[in-house]
Amino acid sequence: MAYLDLTNISKTYGTDGRKVQAVAPLTLAMDRGQIVTFLGPSGCGKTTVMRMVGGLETPTTGTITLDGARLGGPDRRRGMVFQSYAAFPWLTVAGNIRLGLKYRADLSASDREDTVNRFIELVGLKGFADSYTNQISGGMRQRVAIARTLAANPDILLMDEPFGALDALTREHLQNKLLEINRTAGKTTIFVTHDVEEAILLAHRLVVFSARPARVLEDINVTEQLGPDDRDQALRDTPAFLSLRREVQQIIRAEYIRAEAEAAHAP
Ligand SMILES: Nc1ncnc2c1ncn2[C@@H]1O[C@H](COP(=O)(O)OP(=O)(O)OP(=O)(O)O)[C@@H](O)[C@H]1O
Ligand SMILES: [Mg+2]
Repeated sequence: MAYLDLTNISKTYGTDGRKVQAVAPLTLAMDRGQIVTFLGPSGCGKTTVMRMVGGLETPTTGTITLDGARLGGPDRRRGMVFQSYAAFPWLTVAGNIRLGLKYRADLSASDREDTVNRFIELVGLKGFADSYTNQISGGMRQRVAIARTLAANPDILLMDEPFGALDALTREHLQNKLLEINRTAGKTTIFVTHDVEEAILLAHRLVVFSARPARVLEDINVTEQLGPDDRDQALRDTPAFLSLRREVQQIIRAEYIRAEAEAAHAP
């Protein structure tokens, strides 16, 4: 049994009148410490899959197990960064991150403050610790949410387009940090993005989903293709990376064309 097992999970929203099947029965097994990235057309069901793993949405069918035990509602083992900014406006930057540490019994009071500062720095918000999150920009708020989730040190990181709103260099910085955290702490991570390069750069495994309802179209072993760890931004320029990027782009394009044709022929 894998560390994180999604077995035949599906999700249908709505009731009799208007049903939307967001996720087709889908099976995915992840090893501990693995970073799996998700790519797929907008609206295909990626966030829905994440919310089911996070315990925020109940699968219509199927089961999700972590370390052999069936998962229920949200708990501290799973930390989620949402697609939209999810920082608490009534707290300061530091207050938001401190909240992430609430359940960390391993930290003394002084460690706690050090950790808050470390994560503020990690996401490049030094100097904004005492700003309220409605006084900072959208991308900064997103970084607060990222810092809070990382600081909480969950077993599993669920990151839904976390870097979407950030400029290219901030994004690269946080990609490097995420890789570093994975290397040192072996954190099992699911990462959704629309950026093909980001999806390859971060992944041990890259899963491409079909158009809605989401099913696994391709499950690519990126580590095998690009070699093991010590990833950095320079990887983007290597022939293996460029050829994988081309391959993934072709898969996505073909799926887009297929879904368009299917929609055109729908009754
Ligand atoms: N709470 C909900 N109630 C009803 N339908 C929903 C709900 N949430 C999502 N859906 C529908 O489920 C489908 C999948 O949505 P989801 O947010 O999972 O897609 P996504 O792959 O994350 O898209 P994007 O890349 O744009 O973020 C969409 O058709 C959406 O309209
Ligand atoms: Mg989404």
